[in-house]
Amino acid sequence: MIIAIDGPAAAGKGTLSRQIAETYGFQHLDTGLTYRATAKALLDAGLPLDNEEVAEKIAREVELAGLDRDILSAHAIGEAASKIAVMPAVRRALVEAQRTFSQRKPGTVLDGRDIGTVVCPDAAVKLYVTASPEVRAKRRYDEILSRGGEADFAEIFADVQKRDERDMGRADSPLRPAEDAHLLDTSEMSIEAAFQAAKVIIDAALKK
Ligand code: DC
Repeated sequence: MIIAIDGPAAAGKGTLSRQIAETYGFQHLDTGLTYRATAKALLDAGLPLDNEEVAEKIAREVELAGLDRDILSAHAIGEAASKIAVMPAVRRALVEAQRTFSQRKPGTVLDGRDIGTVVCPDAAVKLYVTASPEVRAKRRYDEILSRGGEADFAEIFADVQKRDERDMGRADSPLRPAEDAHLLDTSEMSIEAAFQAAKVIIDAALKK
């Protein structure tokens, strides 16, 4: 069984996906990390971010086992990831690895931007998790402050909008809900409420 979870940056997909994977004992892949790992490898090697052939080669070397959000969370890595994510050859390479992962037993949860539409179009459950840009920016802002960091709300808000434009506006696999996805707008929902709503949908699919 495959559970596909898509949505824009900072919508709460990550937390929700981890909770779902834990509850059902499924394996979880945060596919954003595959784009981030490719971007970081390019940056670390001093390679260009605008050479598709080079980026594809690096994408084919990404190891799913070593992906760690703490190491890949830097803002510059996220920006670089969204730039190389527009390249079809990079997407083909990473989608191949993601599809292989999706077949693992006893079941999998994959989260990203194109799981329900491209990577796993036959997933048993598709969720499209979203929230307004203001709410997503506020959550990211609060998260940085709670970790003792400094943040500028206007800057984060502008950043969320720019990331949305790039993710939704690209020609190859743009971010959009699959036709058969369940929409989950978490703007006015706690994480717990979002999880309960997702659980109802997944339990119904498991009974089929
Ligand atoms: O979810 P994230 O911020 O870690 O993702 C980083 C970038 O990777 C995001 O801007 C778009 C890209 N991405 C993608 O194109 N397709 C996915 N399935 C996951 C992420």
